[in-house]
Formats: sequence, structure tokens, C-alpha cells
Amino acid sequence: MCGISGVVSFHPIGDRLYEGVRHLEYRGYDSCGVAYVQNHHIEVRKDVGTVDEVQSKANIRQLLAAVGIAHTRWATHGKVTKANAHPHLSCKADFAVVHNGIIANYKALRATLSKAGHTFCSETDTEIIAHLIEHTYAECGDVEVAFVEALTALEGSYALAMISVHDAERIFCARHESPLIIGVGSETNYVGSDFNAFIDYTKNTVILDDGEYGIVSKDSYSVKNLHSGEVVDKSITVVPWDSELSRKGGYPHYMLKEIHEQPLAVRNALNIGDDEIGALADMILEARRVHLLGVGTTYYVALLGQYLMAAVADMDLPAVSSDEFRHLDKSDGESLVIAISQSGETYDTLMSLRHAKERGAKTAAIVNVLGSSMARLVDRVILQGSGPEVCVVSTKAALTQMILLARIAIEVGTRRGSLSADLQREYTAALTALPGDIDNLLNEKSGLIRAAAYRHAHVPNWLFLGRGIYYPIALEAALKMKEVTYIHAEGMPGGFLKHGTLSLVDDKLYTLVFVPPGNGELHGMTMSSVEEVKARGGFVFGIAFEGVDDIFDERLVLPVTSDFTAPFLPLVAAQLLAYFTATALKRNVDKPRSLAKSVTVA
Ligand code: F6R
Repeated sequence: MCGISGVVSFHPIGDRLYEGVRHLEYRGYDSCGVAYVQNHHIEVRKDVGTVDEVQSKANIRQLLAAVGIAHTRWATHGKVTKANAHPHLSCKADFAVVHNGIIANYKALRATLSKAGHTFCSETDTEIIAHLIEHTYAECGDVEVAFVEALTALEGSYALAMISVHDAERIFCARHESPLIIGVGSETNYVGSDFNAFIDYTKNTVILDDGEYGIVSKDSYSVKNLHSGEVVDKSITVVPWDSELSRKGGYPHYMLKEIHEQPLAVRNALNIGDDEIGALADMILEARRVHLLGVGTTYYVALLGQYLMAAVADMDLPAVSSDEFRHLDKSDGESLVIAISQSGETYDTLMSLRHAKERGAKTAAIVNVLGSSMARLVDRVILQGSGPEVCVVSTKAALTQMILLARIAIEVGTRRGSLSADLQREYTAALTALPGDIDNLLNEKSGLIRAAAYRHAHVPNWLFLGRGIYYPIALEAALKMKEVTYIHAEGMPGGFLKHGTLSLVDDKLYTLVFVPPGNGELHGMTMSSVEEVKARGGFVFGIAFEGVDDIFDERLVLPVTSDFTAPFLPLVAAQLLAYFTATALKRNVDKPRSLAKSVTVA
């Protein structure tokens, strides 16, 4: 949700500032800008458009300055206009600010500052920060004091970076409920809203906590407590990701690259120590009540976890969408709340964790980003090790989270005695074989799926049906289709269809059905949903396994591996279907319209 990059160096910063903000574009890309100090003035170059579009007009790369900040925006307050693009300047252009988050009291502050003679050029909440610092500076004459005083007046959330003509060789930065990190390099230091801002240049980072601010110069940095002013002794965290991993590596889109990285991501999840899985299993078994939280894709992951825990561990761990959790939360000292999040920064999930914590609950999280807010907030974290996920649309992170939940369910089931030793071995072996199964699917079925996607790219409405554990798979597959193609796809339990939605079915509505392998009850019930749609003239595309009767209008047949891991294979097929449909429609695959990777606002 917006990206911040800052560079201060012995050398010209243009290239690094541009690369930093370009690698953050997945966080928002409707407008972009830079501010830098040159000849005792702050210059701003900004415009609407992607980083490359703005670069072609503003030539950021050629900047000769030694200190600068940059921003790529995902609009929250104010339309997508050049005036609303960051950085924002104070009246005298002595201070420039870039900001992620939302300043809740900006209207009141703006009114006060207007009365004091400040004039505003944008509709944003951010602009008031630059004016507020200038206003305070006029009284105290000290940039650091003015910065700190301005921050203490802000309510809401922020990650921000500031430069000033009055302290022209340093970047001031701070965070409150929105991530901000410092990159420690050689002869150059950095500020970023995440590692991608500088991972090409350094892996050494200092992660700011809420209530801290940083002052970064070309050869040093310091972090202080906002309220006491005391220096905080921060350790350096070394980012375990390679910059190569964050790049496209020959694939046309990150989404396809990340779909193809799933065998590796699953292997990494299987290599996470048994002790870590066991420790979370202990917490689950000790709690009287456990909730699984996520939002968007991660809610569907949590829901799949609920099905796994019921089937494998004979336990009910309700999944709740974290944007609604606060309205339902009755947790107490005997509760455990487990959050699932790729970024570890999602506002709804983070706030839910805080809410539960305030009520005395224990908390845990499965997250992908080291040092993220959730990773540091909870009592126990499992770092899923999926590597950077750059495409806005989550694929490998989500699948990996599902695999970790499967491992946790096996562990809990084994400890409770609800899972026999034989089944425990069978399920573990199936998980071990899964990366190979996914590899085979990617190698053998991609062509068929691509052809199907191009054939059906004109279909405007889809129903995605699944029963049992295939229901969260259907929901997640429908979300993939919607977000990356802009085609309407509605995920639904097969049994729910006849309670209303069936009236939509005619020869124009297409239905994708996730059919479980075998001839068991779930399979039979799913096939009756297929019959219901066919009887109304609906077109049915089945993603099924070998040995299933061919009653579909079209089908994709997958090899049967194990009933336990079978649901993950149609999910991968559905990811590819969404991807190829999006390419057939020439969509902006890695950055679908209106979406941002990490949603850090309410
Ligand atoms: C969909 C998608 C989103 C995220 C959701 C939570 O493909 O990526 O629905 O799953 O915004 O994000 P994280 O996992 O970062 O908490």
C-alpha cells in the first residue's frame, strides 16, 4: 500500500532511488515522485503514472543529488492527480515528506494550520505533515525537534520519510503501525517501506518499531524513541532473500514465476523444524478456544485450515475473516488466535491480533516476511520461507501456508490420538511427494490449461463449486480469477447452490467444479452438483482426477496421488487458469487495477 524509498550517499543517488521505488511498485502504482536536495533547495519531480512513465518524463535516474526520497502511490485520500502524488512540500519548500498510512486527525490539523497561514496544494492527509514540521521548525529552529513534535501530534498510522534544506545530508524517518526499515550499506544508506527498496544493494537492515524514529546519513544511522528521545540499540537483521529471487528471472510475469516456485516453496515449508510445528501444536492443545484469522486469500487459507483440523485432528478451529474479527472477538486468557499473512502487515489482521492480545489471548502467526509487524507482535511465529512474493496476487505464499496448516493438523492429530500412526505416515509421505506432483502438473498440464483459458476468456460469469475441503479451494480459485482477470467468479459450496443461486444457471453461465478423487461420499455429492447445473443447461468445466466419469462439457484430468494432498493440485491448476485468462485478456497481471500487495489501511 504505497512504497517509500530513500537514499543518502557519497555518490549520486538517481539510479538507486529509481530502482528502489520501481521495486516497490507492487505496493501501489498510480503515481510516483521524488524529492531531493540540490543547491540548498528541495526539488520535486512527480506525476501520475507508473514509475517508468514518470521516469520517462522526470528522468529520476539522472539525479546528481546525494540525498532523496521517493514514493509510489496507491490512492487513499484524494484522487489520482499530480498534485496528490508524493512527495509533498511545506509552504516554503523547506521540508518534503513521503508517507504510507492514514492520518486520522488530518482535517483538524489542516484547519489549524490554515488558520496559521499555511496553504495546501493537495487533497492528501500527507501534506499536512510537511506543513506541521515547517510550522514547528519556525518556533524551535531544530529539524529533529520539529520532526518529533510534529509526529506526536499525528493520530492514525504512518511510515514516513522526510528531507529538509535545514539538515540537507540526512533522511528522517519514522513508523507507527506501518512498516519502515533502514538499509545499512557501504557509503550509502537507505530507507524503505520494505526490503525490496534496497535488496539489490544491501541485505543488512534495521527494522523500526512503532514509536521509533530514525536519522539516516550516508555513513551512519541512529534510532531513537519518539517519546523519551533516548537512543535505541537496534540489532541488524540480515534479509535471508537474494535479490535475484525478487526479480522475474525470464518469466513474463511474477505471477507465473511464483506459481512455478511452488514446489520449492512447499519443500521449504516441509523443511521447517518439527520443533516449531510442535510448539504451535502445544499452544493449540493448551488453549480452550482457538481461532484462525486471515483476510482475502489468507481467510480462505484459514478456512482450509479449519477443514484440515476437523478432518485430521478432530478439532474445531473456526476461521474468521480478520476484517470482521473485532466484532466477534470474545477471546480471553485461555484463547489462542493464529493469524495467517504473507506480508505480516495487513491492517485488518494486525488489528485483530492486537485486539485479541488486549483481551489477554495468546497469539501466533504464520507469516512470510521476516521482521514484519505480526512476526514481532505475536507470542510465536512460524516464518513460512516462501521467498519474496512480488505479484499482488498471492499464489506460492498461500499454498505454503496451507501446507504448514496441514503439518500442524497432523501434529495435533497425532498428539491427541485422533490420527493413527499409519495415517500420520501416509499423510507425511503425501506431503513429501507433493512438490514432485506439482512439478508434474506444471510440466504436463500448463499447455492444456492455457488452451482452455484462451477458449473461455470471453465468459463473463463463472460459478466455482467445491464441497468439503474443496470449498475453500473453490473460494480461493474464484478470488484468483476475479482479481487478475476482472471477470466475475463466485465461489460456493456445491450444496449451497440449490438454495438460491441455481436460478442463475442457464446456457450462458459457466461453472467450474472441483471434483475430489475416488468414489466416496464427497465425490458423489460433488457429482450431484454437476448434474444440477447440467440439468439447467449450464456449461460445466470439471477439474477432476483420473477415473472420474466424464459427464462434463469439458474437463481437466489430473493424476491421482493421495486423497490428503489432492486438493492442492486443482488449486495450482486454477491459478494457471486465472493467469492465462488474464494474459488472454491482456490484463495487468502482476498489478491488477485497484489492488495493492500489502493492505495496511482499514
Ligand atoms: C489475494 C491476496 C489478498 C491477500 C490479503 C491478505 O491474492 O493476495 O487477498 O491475501 O490482502 O494479505 P496478507 O497475506 O499479506 O496478510
